[in-house]
Amino acid sequence: MNYKASNERYQTMKYNRCGRSGLLLSAISLGLWHNFGSADVFDNSRSILLHAFDNGITHFDLANNYGPEPGSAEENFGKVLKNDLKAYRDEMVISTKAGYLMWEGPYGEWGSKKSLIASLNQSLKRMGLDYVDIFYSHRPDPNTPLEETMAALDLIVRQGKALYVGLSNYSAEQTQKAESILREMGTPCLIHQPRYNMFDRWVEDGLLEVLDKRGIGCIPFSPLAQGLLTDRYIKDIPKDSRMAKAHFLKESMLTEEKRNAIIDLNDMAISRGQSLAQMAVAWLLSNKTVTSVLVGASSTKQLSNNLEALNNLEFSNDELNQIERISKGVINS
Ligand SMILES: NC(=O)c1ccc[n+]([C@@H]2O[C@H](COP(=O)([O-])OP(=O)(O)OC[C@H]3O[C@@H](n4cnc5c(N)ncnc54)[C@H](OP(=O)(O)O)[C@@H]3O)[C@@H](O)[C@H]2O)c1
Repeated sequence: MNYKASNERYQTMKYNRCGRSGLLLSAISLGLWHNFGSADVFDNSRSILLHAFDNGITHFDLANNYGPEPGSAEENFGKVLKNDLKAYRDEMVISTKAGYLMWEGPYGEWGSKKSLIASLNQSLKRMGLDYVDIFYSHRPDPNTPLEETMAALDLIVRQGKALYVGLSNYSAEQTQKAESILREMGTPCLIHQPRYNMFDRWVEDGLLEVLDKRGIGCIPFSPLAQGLLTDRYIKDIPKDSRMAKAHFLKESMLTEEKRNAIIDLNDMAISRGQSLAQMAVAWLLSNKTVTSVLVGASSTKQLSNNLEALNNLEFSNDELNQIERISKGVINS
């Protein structure tokens, strides 16, 4: 063990300001939704985390329920923090969330004050932390007044259990309302975490404009459409892939039209001297509203590949139009 971080870790990464805040985030962040639970190989999870840190990734994104088992990604992350990354805590931005089902009974999910406060307390314990840097409401709760959910976020900051707060999966309209409530309470909304990639464009229908106007950062999740926007599924469905192993990426999502679009995008990426994964990350980073791109990875090799996206972030208008043409028929499908 005895990990020592690379001396070169800040040499190639870019850091972008998150909305109108003082916080800089690495242009690429690492998410622990898959590949970091108790069902995964711990040594691999640890290697990916340390590889990320060695390459300038400062932002690590978790949620109460990441696993499987739910909670085990936070536990494993806590283990790596304790054994390897402890000395570097102040170089890291750690986020977690609550909102999806985590424990039984009426308080184990959604957005009540009861649920959010209890969940964050559990998360802090699992990770062995006094505070997280960012705490999110993971999804809007149609049955809890928005004022209550936002008051819980405000309270968490005042208690010192999170430095900043964010929203995930809130619509443009919900985001505007939530941001106004938070601002009035004196706790700015730092960041929004929506699903956004070449195939999933719902954020372009109002949300990005709201984030821009209100000075909120944007960290797209599933930037590779869970692996579809890579060369992983061009020939077949590999046995070790998310589509073969996990249930969030279904075979039915890989339609003939989508496979054709993937092949065309892959050709285009090659002509730019990039992998498709790199082009998908670069395309998001070329959007001025995007602060950081939140990738997942099942190996250090994949993460290295994704990090190289930073070598070519420029797109000509022709290239942008080509991406629109290719993805047009499969957007939001
Ligand atoms: N707020 C929310 O509601 C929400 C929801 C989902 C995710 N998130 C966050 O966003 C993070 C990222 O989501 P995601 O894992 O879906 O992101 P993603 O980057 O779209 O997909 C990651 C997966 O793509 C494959 N992959 C990655 N790099 C590759 C490469 N270079 N070449 C080939 N395949 C590659 C791997 O799958 P294989 O297993 O097939 O190798 C990897 O696990 C999560 O960890 C989480 O923190 C948030």
